[in-house]
Amino acid sequence: YPIYAQQAYDSPREATGRIVCANCHLGAKPTKVEIPQAILPDTVFEAIVEIPYDTDVQQVLGNGELGPLNVGAVIDLPEGFKLAPEERIPEEIKEKTTGLFYQPYKAGEDGTYVIGPISGADHQEIVFPILSPDPKTDPNVHFGKYSVHVGGNRGRGQIQPTGDKTNNAIYTASVAGQITGISAGDSGATVTIAAEDGGTVTETIPNGPQIIVSEGEDIAAGAPLTNDPNVGGFGQKDAEIVLQNPTRIKWLMAFFAAIMISQAMLVLKKKQVEQVQAAEMNF
Ligand code: HEM
Repeated sequence: YPIYAQQAYDSPREATGRIVCANCHLGAKPTKVEIPQAILPDTVFEAIVEIPYDTDVQQVLGNGELGPLNVGAVIDLPEGFKLAPEERIPEEIKEKTTGLFYQPYKAGEDGTYVIGPISGADHQEIVFPILSPDPKTDPNVHFGKYSVHVGGNRGRGQIQPTGDKTNNAIYTASVAGQITGISAGDSGATVTIAAEDGGTVTETIPNGPQIIVSEGEDIAAGAPLTNDPNVGGFGQKDAEIVLQNPTRIKWLMAFFAAIMISQAMLVLKKKQVEQVQAAEMNF
């Protein structure tokens, strides 16, 4: 859950640029982001995070039964960009964001937000309404090109905040040896391995992952005892956005207009010269 990341990490992005959700959500699945290529100052726009997956697929829940997936997302905006205040959000964007609760990654700090878990069946697209900053009123902000980082997750994680595995992870043999017993109970199964060095090791497997080994089998250390039940995954996407200076655009348009007029003038001049030449020929 995003809250696990908020509790464990000061920033949602590590020094390498990797978003921290990936530390517990080990499966990699694609995430996409749609933002405008350029935006004018003090303007509301939408950042759409897409978290696609097959909604027919179910995942292992905490109790070992199967159920639907939930989704969540994180967005890390450039300096000065923040979630648009309610009264600035246009009606068409409001429609897409009703019922969604965005939270600052760090309480009271703008610029990085999380959302989720929310139902995946209804939210394969999560819209963040964003307000661009204005360099005129905020001296820390400058026109230019900036990066936006998003992360999108569907499905349960593989690692608990405590560091233990969840029941949505693959379980492996901790030692090499021979499997001497498999017993299944209400709360899961145990696999007993007679280790090569003489000891006996019991691996506990919760309800969820399916055991793929059988009694009598020789197994290497680190080899899987179960299938990988995880059907979800996390994906990160980095995008770029230009904070565009409107006066630059105006001058560019004026320049284009000037070029067009001078081109038309040249054509007219040529026509005039041709007419004079035609008239001169009659003498
Ligand atoms: C569950 C998103 C970070 C561990 C979930 C779920 C979502 C989610 C949407 C619910 C999945 C479902 O019910 O189908 C995120 C996002 C993160 C993040 C967006 C980053 C901002 C983390 C971190 C950890 C973690 C850092 C580990 C410390 C888990 C676990 C579950 C889970 C163990 C399953 C909980 C349960 O059902 O018992 N996460 N997560 N997540 N997440 Fe994360």
